Amino acid sequence: MSPPVKCSLCCSLLTSCALWGLNGWTQIIQFQPPGPKPVPRNNNNSSTISALDMGISEEEWERLQKALDWPGPDQEITQLNQSTSPVHSTFSIVGLKESYKVGEKISVTITARDHNKNLKRYGGDFFKAKLFNSDLKASVYGEVEDHRNGTYSVALLLPWEGQAQVYVCLEHSSEAVQILNKYRESSFPRSHYNGHFEGPGPNKTRISEVVQCNLKWGADGSWRKGDCCCEYKDIKTGTVWQCERPKKLSCDNLVHHSRGGLEDPLNPLEKQIFTKTLTNVAITGDTQLINVLPNAAGIGTMERCRSGMTTPVPAGFYLKDVWKSFVCNTQQFSSSQMGSCLKNKIVYLMGDSTTRQWFEYFERKVPGLQRMDLHTPRTGGPLMAVELKNNIIVHWRPHGVPLRFTKMLLTDLHYISNDIDEIAGGPHVVVVFTICAHMVFHPITFYVHEVAKIRQSVVALLSRAPETTVIIKSGNTAGLKNIFQSDWYAMQLNTVMQEMFRDIDGVIYFDVWQMTSCHYLRENVHPGPVIVANEVNMLFSYVCPA
Ligand SMILES: *[C@@H]1O[C@H](CO)[C@@H](O)[C@H](O)[C@H]1NC(C)=O
Ligand SMILES: *[C@@H]1O[C@H](CO)[C@@H](O)[C@H](O)[C@H]1NC(C)=O
Ligand SMILES: *[C@@H]1O[C@H](CO)[C@@H](O)[C@H](O)[C@H]1NC(C)=O
Ligand SMILES: *[C@@H]1O[C@H](CO)[C@@H](O)[C@H](O)[C@H]1NC(C)=O
Ligand SMILES: *[C@@H]1O[C@H](CO)[C@@H](O)[C@H](O)[C@H]1NC(C)=O
Repeated sequence: MSPPVKCSLCCSLLTSCALWGLNGWTQIIQFQPPGPKPVPRNNNNSSTISALDMGISEEEWERLQKALDWPGPDQEITQLNQSTSPVHSTFSIVGLKESYKVGEKISVTITARDHNKNLKRYGGDFFKAKLFNSDLKASVYGEVEDHRNGTYSVALLLPWEGQAQVYVCLEHSSEAVQILNKYRESSFPRSHYNGHFEGPGPNKTRISEVVQCNLKWGADGSWRKGDCCCEYKDIKTGTVWQCERPKKLSCDNLVHHSRGGLEDPLNPLEKQIFTKTLTNVAITGDTQLINVLPNAAGIGTMERCRSGMTTPVPAGFYLKDVWKSFVCNTQQFSSSQMGSCLKNKIVYLMGDSTTRQWFEYFERKVPGLQRMDLHTPRTGGPLMAVELKNNIIVHWRPHGVPLRFTKMLLTDLHYISNDIDEIAGGPHVVVVFTICAHMVFHPITFYVHEVAKIRQSVVALLSRAPETTVIIKSGNTAGLKNIFQSDWYAMQLNTVMQEMFRDIDGVIYFDVWQMTSCHYLRENVHPGPVIVANEVNMLFSYVCPA
């Protein structure tokens, strides 16, 4: 895509955009009664957070840690040349044959080497692999298995007839991933946020003050110490947001929220490890064309789309830019089919700008759907569109703080779990949420806490109204691959979400990470229109299954 893409990418996620209202916020202006006093320790050590703090059991936390486990260097890295080099790392197809049949798999081996061409002895490199055919606009994602000894393997399905080519890239070396991991769990504020206080001044004037705000998470509150701050605790989720005390106004006067700057924590060696020439680079290997012959047995599934289905790898593939799911029988919907599918439905889209893209797609495609003017910012919302003839209502709003949107009312920022608690549900209700892109700046333990609250609300919703459609949209891959935004972060958060909802009946999970990871468009935190169209067709395939 063209240059504006790059801009919208940084502007939107890392900077501009917006959320619903702040119901359930309470202010703790007085210092809270001290709980059990923690022993003084590094406030940047997130293992001071317990499973209890996250709202899950010890057993579940152990399972999650296993799922998130990622190997890393077995020694301290002091020189760049010890890290994995995309130039010297290679891949090869095991036992490449003259031809294959649709549905067969090929196996690819990746060998990681450092800048001195030495074989790596440990794993943890973040490789991405896919199979593609540009002419056919076809591609499929391949999961990389880490043997933890410097070699990796990928099983790639051959889902279409014709030719196919393997593509492997090194997104981050193992050394880079270790750094991503370190700063994710540290209290270093990579992302800053602003609180806009407004209130009465002398002589009937109105004054405003802008101060820094951030998440309070961890034993000593990870961001600012002591009695520095106004604290805002959401009663139901327990999440605490804090802002520096304004000089003239009181803590009650917090009105708007906006994203602040990004702060780079990297030291010179770490910066070298993240340099552009070593990041997201295709590695060399067997790129000859693979011949895939037709197979009478066919491929894919005719199973009707419903909740509770498992997502395989690959979850589907593109052919002529149409995503064919392996989860269930997905269809393409015309505008008029979309309109009739949504008749008498209320759709709640929640999360971030990626579900706003869905909202905008609905506006463009569903006949007669009109946006109401809610007097809210265009990017921040909340937004609502209606179609009176068929009684269709579509809502969108962003999730609660932390959120990197442009200035908007704090009362319009709601936690997903709180909003789900206020939805009656029923056969006419479709709830879609995503929470990923804005969470990458904070410890994974905080994410687990947020997901635990959402899960509680989803379980309650499905218990009072089992016929409600509940869809979790995973996070997608993005254009930036740096200390602020990385597909590795998104992948780890997706792992948490998928694991924590694994045993929840009645929920539908959309793996859009695979859909964005393998597509030919340049990766973007806001996936291109073709991808969004395929995502939304998947939604329709579940709401109105064939
Ligand atoms: C963690 O805290 C220690 C001691 O307070 C400090 O030396 C170190 O730089 C911090 N690390 C990060 C990643 O913030
Ligand atoms: C963090 O704290 C835990 C327990 O207090 C300790 O076992 C662990 O080694 C610490 N990690 C770091 C990086 O300091
Ligand atoms: C690695 O790089 C450092 C500094 O750039 C250099 O001094 C050292 O000799 C290199 N090591 C090897 C094994 O090439
Ligand atoms: C690495 O581990 C894999 C799987 O255990 C094994 O097949 C392979 O031979 C090992 N490679 C090296 C270089 O040790
Ligand atoms: C408030 O208004 C009064 C009367 O107009 C004036 O004398 C006073 O200086 C004003 N105070 C401030 C702080 O502006």
